[in-house]
Amino acid sequence: MKFIKILILFIAFQVSAQQGGMWIPSLLEGMNEQEMQSLGSTLSAKDIYDVNNSSLKDAIGHFNGGCTSEVISDKGLILTNHHCGFSQIQSHSSVENDYITNGFWAKNFKEELPNEGLYIDFIVRIEDVTARVLADVTDTMTEKEKQSKIDSTSNQINKSAKKEAWQGSKIKAFFKGNQYFLFITETFNDIRLVGAPPVSIGKFGSDTDNWVWPRHTGDFSLFRIYADKNNRPASYSKDNVPYAPKHFLPISLDGITEGDFTLVFGFPGRTNEYLPAIAIEQITQKVNPSRIAIREATLNVMDAEMKKDNKTRIQYASKQARIANAWKKWIGENLGIEKSNAIGKKRDFESQFQKLVKQKGLEKQYGSLLSDFEKLYNDFESVNVKRNNFLEVFIRNNELMHMMFRLYQMENAYQKGDASFNKAKESTITRLKGIHKNYNASLDKNVFEAIMPLYSKNINASIYDKTQFTNLDSALELLKGEPKKVIKKLNNDAAFVYAKPFFDELYNSIDPQFQSINSEINALQKIYMKALMEVMPEERYFPDANSTLRVTYGQVKGYAPRDAVYYNPVTYLDGIIEKYIPGDYEFDVPQKLQDLYKAKDYGQYADTNGKLPICFLGTNHTSGGNSGSPAIDAHGNLVGLNFDRVWEGTMSDMNYDPEICRNIMVDLRYVLFIIDKYAGADHLIKEMKLVHPKRK
Ligand code: ARG
Ligand code: GLU
Repeated sequence: MKFIKILILFIAFQVSAQQGGMWIPSLLEGMNEQEMQSLGSTLSAKDIYDVNNSSLKDAIGHFNGGCTSEVISDKGLILTNHHCGFSQIQSHSSVENDYITNGFWAKNFKEELPNEGLYIDFIVRIEDVTARVLADVTDTMTEKEKQSKIDSTSNQINKSAKKEAWQGSKIKAFFKGNQYFLFITETFNDIRLVGAPPVSIGKFGSDTDNWVWPRHTGDFSLFRIYADKNNRPASYSKDNVPYAPKHFLPISLDGITEGDFTLVFGFPGRTNEYLPAIAIEQITQKVNPSRIAIREATLNVMDAEMKKDNKTRIQYASKQARIANAWKKWIGENLGIEKSNAIGKKRDFESQFQKLVKQKGLEKQYGSLLSDFEKLYNDFESVNVKRNNFLEVFIRNNELMHMMFRLYQMENAYQKGDASFNKAKESTITRLKGIHKNYNASLDKNVFEAIMPLYSKNINASIYDKTQFTNLDSALELLKGEPKKVIKKLNNDAAFVYAKPFFDELYNSIDPQFQSINSEINALQKIYMKALMEVMPEERYFPDANSTLRVTYGQVKGYAPRDAVYYNPVTYLDGIIEKYIPGDYEFDVPQKLQDLYKAKDYGQYADTNGKLPICFLGTNHTSGGNSGSPAIDAHGNLVGLNFDRVWEGTMSDMNYDPEICRNIMVDLRYVLFIIDKYAGADHLIKEMKLVHPKRK
């Protein structure tokens, strides 16, 4: 009897264990802990998150607000993705010291390179403050009143939170504002670059392979945290010392095989798993197609010019990569939603919800939620599409228009007085310099001509020949002088005169409309979330990603993207040699790596089959922001470094499907191999703790 009960429990967890989820680390006891153990984990909830003792969470850092990183030695050595550390690697590079092309390896602490502005946050403690935040909110309040009450109470709680002088804190909303958590944080500001492979390893496959499996990218870089003499956060000083962490991750040399448990610990940015069908329909059928079309028009121009001219290729490499990254993701998202019939399934789910609302006598509270969504989203559609198109055309794709937008904001600041103007001018100049660092006006003009017709009938490319902003010197010249004079000169510039009415329209009409409907949608989504949990309590609920620390877990697993096609979950160095195109900017392979391959000189990093593993797949539910997150084995050791998802599964931000959604990780054995055998930086290997959990 008992055995059968355990078996049933086991089967139940086996099934539900594949359902995804990004969980709050302080709430793992119970369901998650059991589920993880049923998947093979030996970790307890307290091993992962503990306030009083060191735990895995003490090794996980939010890297510069956008990526994740982890501590891998007792001297504060930090591992993250190459694409997360790219701008730091780039900023130390020059023609003489081209760390992008050749890689960089500090031979000792002295050679490690400081990075202005770079920071890493750790989570000291997480507290549920829902009851306190919502204490003074009443049903008779309007949504606006509720929100301002929530904001002021949160502020107070935040201010009075118990913490040390060097710690920070913040409060974040979960489950669409039905729950609130307080985070006590520690932020380190002296972060130095320690090592990076050449781009031909760190970004092997580049944009062609981006979002794609099979993958062979060594997407990693190394940093180090420095602290003051008391081991506390401090701004850069040559007197700072390597940080002694509360916990660092040991690294497994035994790697993974299909079916192994993996836990990914990091800071996913934004997901939307509880949208009504009408919202998914609007995103995939209206918003995505138009922003895909705009980016496609841009990329056609960029790609052609980059192919024609080597200087342009280097100049636009990073801008092109940024535009192509989301473009490719949205295409995959749409395909996935369509192929999995996500909208149809959501509709079925909603009829079920509606039926239960009736059965449970909750019609008065929740009966009109879905029809209210329909109505709101119908009103929302045109302004939502318009605003998205605006952002694409004026902010993200066309650089002259982006400059004009900054200048427009500077003019707005001028209305508030000279002090605010001067501040705005400074940041505008920084932005203009940033754009002009790698700017090609004729390419930008071609982009303008390609995308502007997708937004407006008012197209006038002759502004490129008249404006002062296609050249940095003349742009800076225009910005010289008294504020009043600058504003006057600005309003005589052809590009500014052309662009201004578009910005007026955004501020006077598009944005107010968008914000007003959007806040109604958010208020409804908050009630819908509560209703779902009340009406269907047996479903699996986890809060949407909101850039806070989360745990997701699953197993190493392949997938079948199409009929008769199955993808193995592990790639090997052999695959890099297969993809090798001599001299190609995406698929070149460094000579040394080829030599190591020929000699099969893999040392202790080879798999049991004698091959060198490169990347692997898992069923962990990740999103943007999980880049650089550790993949941790059943015993708490590091086995992988998360950096991407498979194309067929990028819809997981709205619709996680365990059949097809997979995250992509670099095998840590490849990372160690590159550091040791390729770069000869074995002093770093000695600093780490390498373990053999599978050896008995
Ligand atoms: N797709 C991954 C992400 O969303 C990797 C992006 C960097 N790599 C690239 N080839 N652009 O960030
Ligand atoms: N590459 C993404 C990032 O930089 C992670 C991949 C994803 O979106 O899942 O955060």
